[in-house]
Amino acid sequence: MPGVEDVKALEAEALAALEAASTLEEVEAVRVRFLGRKGALTSILRSLSQLPPEERKEVGARANELRARLDTLIDEKTASLKARAAGAEEIDLTLPGFVWPAGRPHPVMQTIAEIVDIFIGLGYTVAEGPEAELDYYNFTALNQPSYHPARSTHDTFYLTEETLFDLDVSEEEARSRSRSIALMRTHTSPVQIRVMEQQKPPIYIVAPGRCYRRDVPDATHSPIFHQIEGLAVDEGITFADLKGTLELFARRYFGPDTLVNFRASYFPFTEPSAEMDVSCVICKGEGCRLCKGSGWLEVLGAGMVHPAVLEGVGIDSERYTGFAFGMGPERLTILKYGIPDIRMFFENDLRFLRQF
Ligand code: PHE
Repeated sequence: MPGVEDVKALEAEALAALEAASTLEEVEAVRVRFLGRKGALTSILRSLSQLPPEERKEVGARANELRARLDTLIDEKTASLKARAAGAEEIDLTLPGFVWPAGRPHPVMQTIAEIVDIFIGLGYTVAEGPEAELDYYNFTALNQPSYHPARSTHDTFYLTEETLFDLDVSEEEARSRSRSIALMRTHTSPVQIRVMEQQKPPIYIVAPGRCYRRDVPDATHSPIFHQIEGLAVDEGITFADLKGTLELFARRYFGPDTLVNFRASYFPFTEPSAEMDVSCVICKGEGCRLCKGSGWLEVLGAGMVHPAVLEGVGIDSERYTGFAFGMGPERLTILKYGIPDIRMFFENDLRFLRQF
């Protein structure tokens, strides 16, 4: 009659045999030898009924435990031998993980996304235009006279030989010639014209994008930079709408306590024109180095769309009015984070970029 000692002896024997087995066939042989129909453990289990009840309980429990354990071990060993045969490496789950460096949007792109989101929340949609642009859209259609200094090769990267700046031609002649002069856009305002050519009012758009000017790089100038243009054209739009919209924008972007100040300014394509200042992000208006003691920071240019611009794209300026604005996301990012030099945005030094 089998006893507890027999089960223990069988356990030691079975574990040793399994340990020694190094192929699938050998493992299968171990299974047959102990757990098969005529296996050693199977016969102990079969003879349990012949034992006196007190012994049956203990031997039965141990034998069943051993069967379960052997089953699991054999399955595991079979699986690991199969995996090794399939070429899979054994995975060491205790090895430390490797964290791949994740990229993220550039700080200026983050600012653009944040600002565009503010205007999307006001019902605006996003428009885009080409970076290589015609003089017509960049200057002429924006009411920029041909003698305007911004047209000079000094400020603008031209893609064609001819420029209107050196030409002494009538405004009518200039208007037609400017359609064959190509340049890198110096602002995003040409998108205003492209949108108004395509779309009838009501128009509410923002147009973010890259711009180019022949500036010598320094702490506050970069020949490549970005702008976000805004344009609203509808019936009954007034300067109060311009102020309300831009004040709301300033509070969302710089914080709810931000104050705004509008100063009269000049742009050929808006009348009247204004520049908007916000209370200094550092000193809150007290006066400090950043705001040069004034308490204010200039953040954008804006104005009511000039009637000549509306008429030029076939919009009735008696029925419709509009406002437009343009701001620089580099400057807005610089002000928000206290970045000392605009060139840091374009050097792509990861030690700088990783901070955003
Ligand atoms: N385009 C102007 C600039 O680059 C900014 C501006 C946009 C002003 C729209 C008024 C209206 O300075």
